[in-house]
Amino acid sequence: MKVANLFRIKNNLERMPLTKSMNSSDIKILKAIDLFAGIGGIRRGFQKVFQDKIKFVFSSEIDKNAQKTYQLNYNEIPHGDITAIDEADIPSHDIILAGFPCQAFSVAGYRKGFEDTRGTLFFDVARIAKYHKPKIIFLENVKGFVGHDKGRTFEVVKRTLEDIGYTLYYEVLNTKDFNIPQNRERIYIVAFLDNVENFTFPKPLEPIITISDLLDKKVDEKFYYNNKPLYEKIKDDIKSSDTLYQWRRHYVRENKNNVCPTLTANMGTGGHNVPILKDKKGIRKLTPNECIKFQGFDESFKFPKDLALSHQYKQAGNSVTVTVIEEIAKCIKNVL
Ligand SMILES: C[S@@+](CC[C@H](N)C(=O)[O-])C[C@H]1O[C@@H](n2cnc3c(N)ncnc32)[C@H](O)[C@@H]1O
Repeated sequence: MKVANLFRIKNNLERMPLTKSMNSSDIKILKAIDLFAGIGGIRRGFQKVFQDKIKFVFSSEIDKNAQKTYQLNYNEIPHGDITAIDEADIPSHDIILAGFPCQAFSVAGYRKGFEDTRGTLFFDVARIAKYHKPKIIFLENVKGFVGHDKGRTFEVVKRTLEDIGYTLYYEVLNTKDFNIPQNRERIYIVAFLDNVENFTFPKPLEPIITISDLLDKKVDEKFYYNNKPLYEKIKDDIKSSDTLYQWRRHYVRENKNNVCPTLTANMGTGGHNVPILKDKKGIRKLTPNECIKFQGFDESFKFPKDLALSHQYKQAGNSVTVTVIEEIAKCIKNVL
């Protein structure tokens, strides 16, 4: 029996059914799958734009803690490791959403054939797309992905998707240009199966939201550095109350451009990468709830009450900026 089938039997009581379900009567509803789902930032952006015209038929996320946050917010427990799931067991869908982790794979591997990209997580997106041929594939990755391995990694992605019939559009966009004050450059790739000639990425929005708009009104004592060992090292450098700072091992870096530095997954380890600020009560780090707001999530998002702060920071840093996703989703809607 295939691993994926065993997996299905084990989990089928609590998860969505893994059955094919394309039905001509609901073709106007975009059926979506959410891969490397994290806390569902990409899903959220698409849901805001497509509302009841998008239906999620499958999701996958390997991290148990992220699964819990996803369940709390979307009422669905994602399936686990995507590499262990047979593409035939995934329901039919019209769009794949995937903010896949960046991994090395080269053109040399690609030349040996499609199968040679096996073992990399992009391959899992590609094999699912090859089997199901959804109309749209939406991918997100770090900016450096374009130049990774001298551009070879990106070339493999492009050629692999072109080989199975897709036309790719891609652009690096910065969150700070979409009315959320965070410096976060990411590459967004939209691939269409049908001939789409007039797709364009969104233009920047007017910046209205400021750092102070996103700060919590009440902050727990535990987020303050006052009287903690780091306080003495940073207190003289942290002067302004409308700027965010970062502790870089031996010195404090000020972000002079009125935006939050890029939030990263390693905020969850040791806490040193969490941006720092000064308010009336003292010097403190951003709370996970504030990090979530700097990722463009609205008040309806929740972390599970018992989730460790380290996981909350990691999940916020790993996510996408919902506002940017929303703007791209609007552009996709325009060409459908
Ligand atoms: C960059 S994050 C994507 C976050 C997501 N876009 C969001 O908005 O929260 C990549 C995610 O892929 C997950 N992941 C890594 N390997 C995986 C695998 N083999 N199967 C499923 N998920 C995996 C990680 O746990 C992580 O949450």
